[in-house]
Amino acid sequence: MDHRKSIAEFKRAQNYLVGGVNSPVRAFKGVKGNPLVVDYGKGKKIFDIDGNGFTDYCLSWGALILGHAHPEVMKAIKKGLKHAVSFGTTTKPEIEIAEFIVKHVPSVEQVRFVNSGTEATMSAIRLSRGVTKRNIVIKFDGCYHGHADDLLAVAGSGVANLPASSSQGVPPEHLKNTLSLPFNDTKRCLEVFERLGKNIAGVIVEPVAGNMGVVVPEKGFLKMLRDVTVKSLSIFIFDEVMTGFRTHLGCVQSEFDIWPDITCFGKIIGGGFPVGAYGGRKDIMNHLAPNGGVYQAGTFSGNPIVMRAGLATLKSLHKKLFDNLGEMTDDFVDQVNDAFRAKNLNIHAVNYKSMVSLRFREKKVVNYLDAQNAGSTEVYSRLFHFLLAKGIYLPPADLESFFLSSRHTTKDLNYLGKCLTEFNDAY
Ligand SMILES: Cc1ncc(COP(=O)(O)O)c(C=O)c1O
Repeated sequence: MDHRKSIAEFKRAQNYLVGGVNSPVRAFKGVKGNPLVVDYGKGKKIFDIDGNGFTDYCLSWGALILGHAHPEVMKAIKKGLKHAVSFGTTTKPEIEIAEFIVKHVPSVEQVRFVNSGTEATMSAIRLSRGVTKRNIVIKFDGCYHGHADDLLAVAGSGVANLPASSSQGVPPEHLKNTLSLPFNDTKRCLEVFERLGKNIAGVIVEPVAGNMGVVVPEKGFLKMLRDVTVKSLSIFIFDEVMTGFRTHLGCVQSEFDIWPDITCFGKIIGGGFPVGAYGGRKDIMNHLAPNGGVYQAGTFSGNPIVMRAGLATLKSLHKKLFDNLGEMTDDFVDQVNDAFRAKNLNIHAVNYKSMVSLRFREKKVVNYLDAQNAGSTEVYSRLFHFLLAKGIYLPPADLESFFLSSRHTTKDLNYLGKCLTEFNDAY
């Protein structure tokens, strides 16, 4: 496969963009080698500037549930362009998409749109603090909520359990009100609430984690969080930036029948454009300016082109599509796991509906420590490049989840499964 044009462009990019990219993981540090410079996408495929085509399982990090350039989404964008692109005022598309979300996600009565998932979670945290007049926020190790200062915490060591930042440049004071606990550890959460409950503003969680590979919560974990937050009058925040509208029109919360106070959205609701949103009960959302004292604003928030693309995407989703994607992925995971077992390979695939990841050990992963132990940059790098040469594009890092779109078929998955099992010598 010829990559000469991508190599030359990436070299040029490195002169003008930091590390040649606008988001670190794109630099392929997790898999080594030269990033593809992509020219265009169509359906399930992306094409690089050398003319190579790849079946895309990254899908703009899960945003493109309908694949690339879906006709309905493209039509909505073109229609929107006729009205010009940005006004900084209220427009009909933002009302329509908010109405759609409120109608389908029972815990959400009102929505505020922002421009990224990071902004959504950052603002939801501010809102939780404004509503409760408390400061402490609980998050979970391995859950990613974007790059706001006080959410870039990793669990600290030792009895003091002070969180450290996963980034330089974050003053320790910004983290003194963030506690990062192990995912799925009910006992630990209850202990912390017992001790600090009265000071806890909110708990934020990926209800199905996707940023340490896919980790489905153990039975009762989310319910425990819901109960304990009700008891301590803290705000419960679901970060559905990745899971929102990926598996159900009511989002993951409807599947688990657990209702958060605030939900964060992103990715799919923008139809491939930059977007974020957060929403919840009216009594909580009313604390936001202009109605209340919690300030949050944005020049481009609710941009009409983005809203049109998002609404066209959401309107194209339906139960049959979700069921089909879920069933296809379940079958794929069962088949590759049977093949891995038959070959005695120390690897397994895991999925939640159309979110998938690979674990380089047999034991189930329930938290971030397990996920780290089941990761392997070394094996994943070789696998990634092996698949690339076969025309398959997975996310370029081992702890990222990969995704299916409505354009992927059983044939695509059979081919991916065949390639994954063919690679057996290296696991
Ligand atoms: C669960 C979750 N929350 C928040 C974010 C941050 O979103 P963005 O990259 O749009 O800022 C991400 C991004 O991947 C995410 O997966």
